[in-house]
Amino acid sequence: MVTTMLDVDRSGMLGAIASLPGQLPDGYERAGRAADAIAAAWRATGATGTPRTMVVCGMGGSGVGADLLPAAIEATAPVVAAKGYDLPGWVDARDRVVCVSYSGNTAETLSCMRQAIERGVVAAVVTSGGQVAELATQHGIPVVEVPAGMQPRAAVGVLFGALVGVAEALGVVGPAGARIAEAAAGAQRVVDLHVEGSVDGDPPALEIARRLHDSIVVVYGCGPTAAVAARWKAQINENAKVPAFANAYPELDHNEIVGWEFAGATGGRWSLVELVPANVAPELRMRMDVTRELIADDLATSLRLDAESVSRAGAVFELVAWGDYVSAYLALVRGVDPSPVERIAELKSRLDGR
Ligand code: PA5
Repeated sequence: MVTTMLDVDRSGMLGAIASLPGQLPDGYERAGRAADAIAAAWRATGATGTPRTMVVCGMGGSGVGADLLPAAIEATAPVVAAKGYDLPGWVDARDRVVCVSYSGNTAETLSCMRQAIERGVVAAVVTSGGQVAELATQHGIPVVEVPAGMQPRAAVGVLFGALVGVAEALGVVGPAGARIAEAAAGAQRVVDLHVEGSVDGDPPALEIARRLHDSIVVVYGCGPTAAVAARWKAQINENAKVPAFANAYPELDHNEIVGWEFAGATGGRWSLVELVPANVAPELRMRMDVTRELIADDLATSLRLDAESVSRAGAVFELVAWGDYVSAYLALVRGVDPSPVERIAELKSRLDGR
């Protein structure tokens, strides 16, 4: 049964997910090779100390690192995500910009990059090639090259590791090798439960996917897992090709909880996944319990994943790995290949034609 289902994974998404732990140090080392150039370019601006902010321009699977970095690692300066065509107006010589695009051809990232070049604030780019690499080379901007041939969202580990390496070169995070090792260990815990031959019976993420199948999944995080909830949502969208939504405690208790009153009336089946970091504050856990009590009647199913990794970086990547597997198995349960994202390709090509 599982063998038949695995045949649907024609482009090897499950294998790509299993490579997540190894991708993290790989990306970090790749950025390490550009660290001297990145630091020298920053010092050449006459700056002393570290940048005021590190702005990360990137979309979708390439942009998620901007959210995961401050979730996983304590930064000494704000890490700001810029997910659009324009660099924020306040970005100036006191800030450094990192442009991340797996393909190197994403319109929004290229637009921000051109603005950042005009302002003289680009620290580095992280890409497998494309126009981003070309533009960087033309302007003498350090390029952290990542291996080509993956889906951008499946390259999350190498892109994240590279971004952390750039942040370290700028002093925006301290020496981060130990954090990368924690992140890799967190992801590895989950991979170990899913690689062939390591478990008796069906993989646990497949069992979760069967429970979530045929429902609209709402994913809630809190603190460092808020960014992971957003990653789950995007992975369910792109891998399983179904709608999903994400939000974070405690803010959702001040608005979204009221919206659940109408959930039953929509006729949809709704399910809830809560992502909990280790050592979550008791008041937050109590909120989760009470929230779930209040919305229980509107839920087809609910489950809570408590991170076993104690470190922040470990917990973040442990729960990222769970989301990657669950979303991939959701696709397979639906008989859909998790890898292709034809809608995104179609949208990009229609926009190119106008
Ligand atoms: O997962 C995907 O394919 C998308 O979310 C892409 O990451 C997004 O469209 C941006 O493209 P790129 O990552 O090549 O910059």
